[in-house]
Amino acid sequence: MMPDEAHLTSARPAPDTLAIAGGSPVRPPNRPWPRWPQPAENAPDLLASVLAGGRWGISGPATGSEPYERAFGRRFAEYVGTRHCVPVDHGSSALVTALEALRLPYGSTVLVPALTWVASASAVFRAGLVPILVDVDPETGCVGPDNVAPEADTGALIAVHWACAMADIPGIREITDPLGITVIEDAAQAHGAQWLGKQAGSLGRIGCFSMQHSKVLTAGEGGAVVTDDDALAALLEELRADSRRYAGGQSTAMGLDLVESATLMGANFCLSEFGAAVLCAQLGILDEQHAIRNANYLLLGKLLADVPGVRLLNHREEQTRLSLYEVPLIFDPLPDGVTAQQIADALTAELHTRFYPPRAPLNRSTLLRPWTKPSLAHLAERFVAEHRARTYPHAEHLVAHTVLAHHGSFLGDERDMADIADAVAKVLIAYQ
Ligand SMILES: Cc1ncc(COP(=O)(O)O)c(C=O)c1O
Repeated sequence: MMPDEAHLTSARPAPDTLAIAGGSPVRPPNRPWPRWPQPAENAPDLLASVLAGGRWGISGPATGSEPYERAFGRRFAEYVGTRHCVPVDHGSSALVTALEALRLPYGSTVLVPALTWVASASAVFRAGLVPILVDVDPETGCVGPDNVAPEADTGALIAVHWACAMADIPGIREITDPLGITVIEDAAQAHGAQWLGKQAGSLGRIGCFSMQHSKVLTAGEGGAVVTDDDALAALLEELRADSRRYAGGQSTAMGLDLVESATLMGANFCLSEFGAAVLCAQLGILDEQHAIRNANYLLLGKLLADVPGVRLLNHREEQTRLSLYEVPLIFDPLPDGVTAQQIADALTAELHTRFYPPRAPLNRSTLLRPWTKPSLAHLAERFVAEHRARTYPHAEHLVAHTVLAHHGSFLGDERDMADIADAVAKVLIAYQ
């Protein structure tokens, strides 16, 4: 070998050098991942029909045809298997209206798992109530029957289906129902997940969904509340439309679809016709997308079974269908001196799609600071006092040992799963 060549060879990183340290990545940077969101084929036509149709929101004059907002509500209720669905503008609004519909006394407490997006707790404050954070099941990351520790004034529990696991709602309800505590399912991350064949959202008294950009069913922003309870559904309609409900019967030309029923005071949380039209289209491909993602997830599980030091999240066997949202890869134990953040960064560099640890449990989240809003000061005082001495060992442990991948990366094929498994193996070998 010429001296120059020897120099070149020794400067080149070894094949197992991590991409984050200058090595070549497992996946060539020019091989794209599936895009998210993926518009359904009929989405442009439905959107165009709203643009041309003259009604862009349900508070506009009726056109004689069914508003998309109503059509989506009808179709999503059918999908979830509940009698009613009231569409709203955000998942947070779904939670606020659900809590308001319960008409709990001001300042009552609501149990909320520590491992969730901040909205599960901030919605409680917005409804004039105080969230009490509880720990989660160490296997699923969801609140479970063992975590139900009500206060004397607890009126509700928000059961979040986390990442791609489902909370054991029937188990929770065995404890909460006799105490008169209402279970609201926060199914923002779980459209289409099933527990013994029943859809997420239909297991609690009220189910709440988000249709924000990253969710499996999305219009960029959006949400929905579902319930079997006729009286609650009527209140939910008012709460989301400034105290107005749908007029009974068909809408008439030049009339309005909403009547001022005003049994209680609402706010404007209405979903626009653009959002509703997109959701009508996207709902048509949701189950197809679930099938692709779930087949890929199954394959990834098989591939990772050969990689020591990593596993997928455990699900309860009663969960008969997965709805992948953020897919947890569990590294427990972590290699010595290595953090989940370091693994996430190394995987991101190998694969050119984002891997990231879960956010901090809500007891130490910088996003949950109710004392910064004067209108919440009174509720914040109790919140702070209640949480001084509480700890969340299971949530903390999961956060420290988990790396998440977005479900959009599971809409491709087997090669993508092989890339993920290869990258995980490479990173773990490098960090051992
Ligand atoms: C569990 C959970 N609840 C509530 C929400 C709030 O939904 P939105 O962002 O649509 O208000 C989210 C959104 O990420 C969520 O993940």
